[in-house]
Amino acid sequence: MLDYMLDQLRQLEEEAMAALEAVEDRDALAAWYRRYVGKRGTPSSRALREERAGYDARGRDASQPLPLTQLVHAVEDLPKEDRPAFGQAANKLKAKFEAAHGAWDQTLYQAEMERELEHGALDVTLPGRPAGPGHLHITTQTLRQIYDIFAEMGFQVYEAPEVETDELNFGLLNMPPHHPARDMWDTFWASDEVLLRTHTSPGQMRAMRERCPEPIRVILPGKCYRYEQVTARSEHQFYQVEGLAVGHNIRMTDLIGTLTQFARRFYGPERRVRIRGSYFPFTEPSIEVDMDCILCHGRGCRVCKYSGWLEIAGAGMVHPVVLQNGGYDPDEWSGFAFGPGVERPAMLKYRIDDIRLFYGNDLRFLRQF
Ligand code: FA5
Repeated sequence: MLDYMLDQLRQLEEEAMAALEAVEDRDALAAWYRRYVGKRGTPSSRALREERAGYDARGRDASQPLPLTQLVHAVEDLPKEDRPAFGQAANKLKAKFEAAHGAWDQTLYQAEMERELEHGALDVTLPGRPAGPGHLHITTQTLRQIYDIFAEMGFQVYEAPEVETDELNFGLLNMPPHHPARDMWDTFWASDEVLLRTHTSPGQMRAMRERCPEPIRVILPGKCYRYEQVTARSEHQFYQVEGLAVGHNIRMTDLIGTLTQFARRFYGPERRVRIRGSYFPFTEPSIEVDMDCILCHGRGCRVCKYSGWLEIAGAGMVHPVVLQNGGYDPDEWSGFAFGPGVERPAMLKYRIDDIRLFYGNDLRFLRQF
């Protein structure tokens, strides 16, 4: 009986190894495994008996050996003393089949890859997809238009830091501690003394102290920060372009002329500008500049707060205290200053109805400009 069983193993080995040579794809390899090793997992002996019976009933060629897992379970038919010898031989064969299966699987995988590469399913030599060229952000484009317009009027660009001191952002601009106007411009504080600037106006003081006693004509562009509720017209981070002119006999009409010229050049001659009296601690007198709201054509919308006008800048004649803090004698010198935002003027030029779109990083928005 043992000899018969060992002979079955030999036959199975011979037949399986010959059949493996003919296996050409991974499906056929899986079928090979099922045929010669058997189903994966260990079936119950009852299931095995039934499978064997069915196999025989389906007319198995008696000369064909059973799959290995079934042969192994036939060990039950052997006398006890023969079982170890058969078990060892069967285990050895199982290891051989597993190794041959693994190696053939690798060979087929390599061949499959080579075929795919050859037939161009994946051409790894193709150049990668180029990243499309970017373009300037709408804020940068708007800033550059503003620089050009003021450059024509003789204004130089002067850069000032975004991180400022309380003294420059407020104190030297005529807002001592506890001045009520500070409430309008609350910001993000790094310490009791250091803050993110709420407006570009502290740059006025830097320019004056650096240029004094020369006349000045500069614009100071840059980012400002405010502790502010974000809405369709207000961000907590936005740009301003401060303007400052200091000289002899500079008057309010110079300021209004400069701002009107800017508005005409930036928006076109058909747009309307409105000048209103206002209050800033660092200018006297102070004004506010509004543009007619192109988004609603004056009918009223959430951007213009249903007034038909949108404020784009604060401005005024430089306050004597501020001139003095900057090193200029207010009896001899005078000056004007203005501080438009950048996003709001751009909204009115390009009909953008929500300021939050500027820094939302949505390419569908950004690509339009
Ligand atoms: C000021 O910041 C003054 N420093 C302007 C100034 C300069 C007055 C020089 C006199 C002389 P105001 O807070 O109004 O003022 O802001 C000026 C402009 O900045 C506004 O008209 C608006 O265009 C823009 N701005 C202000 N707050 C925001 C905000 N939260 N989001 C977007 N833009 C803003």
